Amino acid sequence: MYVLYPYFTNDGSVGLYSPEADDIYHSTYGALTEAYEKFILPAKLDDFLKKNNEIKILDICYGIGYNTKSFLNYFFENFEKKLSDLNINIDSIDTDNKLNKIFIKTIDNDKNLVYLSPFIRCNKKNIFNNKLNFKNEKISKLLNRKTKSKYKLEEFINIILLKKIIKNIPEIFDDEEFNKILKNKKYKRYFDQNTRRLFEFYKNQGMKYTLLRRLNVFLHNIYYRNLSKSYKKAVKYLKFNDFDFEPEIGDARQLIKEDKNLYNFIFLDAFTPAKCPVLWTVDFFKQLHKNLADDGMILTYSNSAAVRNAFIQAGFWVGKIYNKENDKFMGTIAAKKLELIKSGLSEYDLGLIKTKAGIPYRDESLSLDNETVILKHNREVEQSNLISSSKFIKTFRGCK
Ligand SMILES: C[S@@+](CC[C@H](N)C(=O)[O-])C[C@H]1O[C@@H](n2cnc3c(N)ncnc32)[C@H](O)[C@@H]1O
Repeated sequence: MYVLYPYFTNDGSVGLYSPEADDIYHSTYGALTEAYEKFILPAKLDDFLKKNNEIKILDICYGIGYNTKSFLNYFFENFEKKLSDLNINIDSIDTDNKLNKIFIKTIDNDKNLVYLSPFIRCNKKNIFNNKLNFKNEKISKLLNRKTKSKYKLEEFINIILLKKIIKNIPEIFDDEEFNKILKNKKYKRYFDQNTRRLFEFYKNQGMKYTLLRRLNVFLHNIYYRNLSKSYKKAVKYLKFNDFDFEPEIGDARQLIKEDKNLYNFIFLDAFTPAKCPVLWTVDFFKQLHKNLADDGMILTYSNSAAVRNAFIQAGFWVGKIYNKENDKFMGTIAAKKLELIKSGLSEYDLGLIKTKAGIPYRDESLSLDNETVILKHNREVEQSNLISSSKFIKTFRGCK
């Protein structure tokens, strides 16, 4: 039986724990905050969107969709600002021409997470009784009782995603496992009840995609004003922006091989290299090199020397993600063009890459399982003549 392990992270968005990987999907600090600070803000989308009205994004390890949702939230905020700078009122625009074109492909091998993604709550205000409904001391200790949120996800983002998922994966209506999870009282507080009701409505209508006019009548009559407002906003933004959404379910390594798109941004949000090395190998990165546009970039939260080395060996320029607010480096950027790297690797980072800690994971056939990749890697580390990272760190600090 499929069990979900949700909890509220400290910014009021829902996080998940995976007992299988014995790892969290989202930082207790804040699932939404993490998406913004590790993927959306470092991508410097402002610069890109100033020059382009077409964007292609690949969200690897979509999970419950924070990176895609945060991108959409950021994009539509930016779109509104752009219009107001040009003194254009969106309600006064009357055109069939789309102003922007967004393409997002998402990949995850857990179908339930993908299906649940539009229902996940992101802005819970107070979490007085923020207790886990599963046992995990480590996570409990890190949870606050009061939320602190810097970013707010607008409700219409979930509605946009729901509409797109229903259109692309109509099987969602008949999926027993997913429908059971959605109705399970145990999880109720983690789901956005407005999108849940909208889903029930679509389902009860017995059609895959409800006619807009009928839906509007329904909304006016039955729904809260607030949902109706969010729904209208979703419809309005989709009218002016062509949003093509392709959620894929399966192993990222296999699905990406078939993909001929060239992406401007690739978000790589896999579990840590020690838990899920198959998505951090030189060979997978070589494949991503083929999927990245010449002026594109890959963003990851990982600071691992082995990951950085794998990117270098796959032919990328590599840099670090700098967080101004915390004055900390919190991830890695890989690009085909050097000028896209704003914070390069330091002497220390480059030194570390040349130690045993920098030996990358390998999976030439893009088909090995995690255990085999780890075994192969351990063997290579054991047989290597490189110095250990601890020895390097000692020497490096001694010289400074
Ligand atoms: C750290 S979580 C990602 C969190 C996600 N970005 C979100 O916003 O919820 C890692 C995800 O990787 C997925 N995953 C693990 N191995 C995979 C594989 N080989 N191919 C595709 N997805 C995979 C898991 O199902 C999980 O959802």
